[in-house]
Amino acid sequence: MCLLLIGPPGAGKGTQAVRLAAHLSIPHISTGDLFREHIDQGTELGQNAHTHTRAGLLVPDEVTIGVIKERLTRPDTERGFLLDGFPRNLAQAHALDDILAYSESRVDAVLDLEIPEDQVVRRIAGRRLCRRNHEHIFHVDYSPPEVDETCDVCGGELYQREDDRERTVRKRLEVYRTETAPVVGHYQAQGLVTTISACGQVQDVLNRSLVALGYGQVDVAGTSG
Ligand code: AP5
Repeated sequence: MCLLLIGPPGAGKGTQAVRLAAHLSIPHISTGDLFREHIDQGTELGQNAHTHTRAGLLVPDEVTIGVIKERLTRPDTERGFLLDGFPRNLAQAHALDDILAYSESRVDAVLDLEIPEDQVVRRIAGRRLCRRNHEHIFHVDYSPPEVDETCDVCGGELYQREDDRERTVRKRLEVYRTETAPVVGHYQAQGLVTTISACGQVQDVLNRSLVALGYGQVDVAGTSG
């Protein structure tokens, strides 16, 4: 299955993607996480990406499409994958269609996470990420770690993303409205999009997503319902 998660910054894409990917037994591929890994490692690609991410702008398409193209050649994607944060504009959507067509594949489903901007701002303001693994996501109020500044999963240090500052968040939201929102229309025209509310508890959003994809709900313990 090729599944796309689309939604504004802070909607909860990363939070849901980790859970959905585990449930569907497919890899979670986040362009944001891939860029953050490059930035942490100080690679040339990371230095280039950093000039754009810290300003709240999209990393240039040739870089981003190259990163995704390489990632999709790895064997763990053979049975499908979940893309979180890609495609983010129409050029990337067309590039993805071409990449998939080359392997006689296509996008199977798109989940469009909808949430009011005031909630997004609250979610982003309190977000903390684990330095060791960017998939370990916390929130100072909504999902606080048991020990301050420490990841419950691996003991890594928690930190606030540089691009989560208010001014940058406003820019990211503007970029989402102008560049990414049209991507939803691209897939709507193919009948692939289900829009779901990203408000409420993490578990409720996960259940809405699973139902939209034709799966049963899961209970809080994570077993199928
Ligand atoms: P990226 O990392 O993809 O950022 P984003 O799309 O702006 O999304 P976020 O990571 O901010 O939010 P999210 O929706 O994943 O929310 P989360 O689950 O963390 O991209 C960063 C940058 O990289 C971009 O600005 C760009 O520069 C570059 N980039 C990336 N992809 C690119 C591309 N394709 N092309 C070009 N450039 C690209 O949740 C947020 C918070 O809310 C967390 O604290 C979480 O604990 C909490 N939370 C989540 N769900 C709930 C809930 N239901 N209830 C309460 N709290 C919740």
